[in-house]
Amino acid sequence: MRHVLAVISLFSAVTMVATSAHASGMFPKGNGNKANGEKIFQQGKGDVPACLSCHGEDGSGNDDLGTPAIAGQGFSFLRKQLEDFATDRRQDTTMFVMNANAKGLTPEDRDDVATYLTSRKGGFKGSDLDELKKGGSVEVGMVYKGKALVEYGSPVRNDGFPKELGSKGAGVPACKSCHDFAGRGAPPVYPQIGQQRYVYLVNQLKKWRDGSRANDPKGQMQAVARKLSDDDIHNAAAYLTNASPYTVGNTRTPYDHAH
Ligand code: HEC
Ligand code: HEC
Repeated sequence: MRHVLAVISLFSAVTMVATSAHASGMFPKGNGNKANGEKIFQQGKGDVPACLSCHGEDGSGNDDLGTPAIAGQGFSFLRKQLEDFATDRRQDTTMFVMNANAKGLTPEDRDDVATYLTSRKGGFKGSDLDELKKGGSVEVGMVYKGKALVEYGSPVRNDGFPKELGSKGAGVPACKSCHDFAGRGAPPVYPQIGQQRYVYLVNQLKKWRDGSRANDPKGQMQAVARKLSDDDIHNAAAYLTNASPYTVGNTRTPYDHAH
């Protein structure tokens, strides 16, 4: 009996590895009705306004509104966010609209719009940091420091992080360890954060840190964000928003990721 259990747990460990983000061709891209999804994106439905009115015609988000890029994001992540808004597990505390928007759509509609968005490339363009600096109201961080944090984390940071949330007093983990190289995402769980809008990245990191966004599985993202200073947040976002998902001289991604 004990032997059987050991075999079963070994088997599930192997399955977990096999279904992790790096196994190519296994990422769900959604099988909703793309045409209906496109219609919702372009025209809205009932009381729900057209998604493009806030997320842009190309789905690339908007720094003035604080909206994220959504075109080209992973399907499972998008669908989860829409479900979380619909069930109030996640609150839109930026424009106070997404909860009503998600509730105004049926589960099928949410599936359809997520399928459509995932299939649409080119939404992730990042932000023009010089423009944001000119505006004067947005504090922009240091790209090279952000790059270090995303790639290596910070081994020395262990201040003030509550033990009951699982901290062993260790430092900040590299963002890359979950969100992959340059934050290009590791579906189905870890969203693309590279080339996301600067203002959105900063807002979300602050929300994870103060707990006003708490829809992350096992509190993973809150645990990371609680260790970040304001500077860390600005630095990481400054790097990520224009981070290339490719290494220099190599335009191939190592696997067929869902973006
Ligand atoms: C009136 C403006 C507005 C409209 C219209 C709108 N959104 Fe949003 N959306 C937002 C804002 C603001 C956020 C960021 C919320 C936050 O800060 O937590 C957001 C966030 C999202 C997210 C979360 C993305 C992520 O990376 O976590 C998704 C998905 C999304 N919207 C999809 C849609 C879809 C689909 C539609 C159309 C049915 C739509 N939105 C219409 C303003 C809007
Ligand atoms: C232990 C794994 C893990 C690490 C390390 C991690 N994250 Fe995350 N992060 C997550 C998960 C899981 C989510 C998605 C939560 C959800 O389902 O809403 C997420 C979501 C996010 C989001 C919101 C994206 C969106 O579109 O709404 C941002 C921004 C983010 N992470 C930034 C970072 C940064 C910056 C770092 C490094 C300082 C980092 N993360 C390190 C697990 C991680």
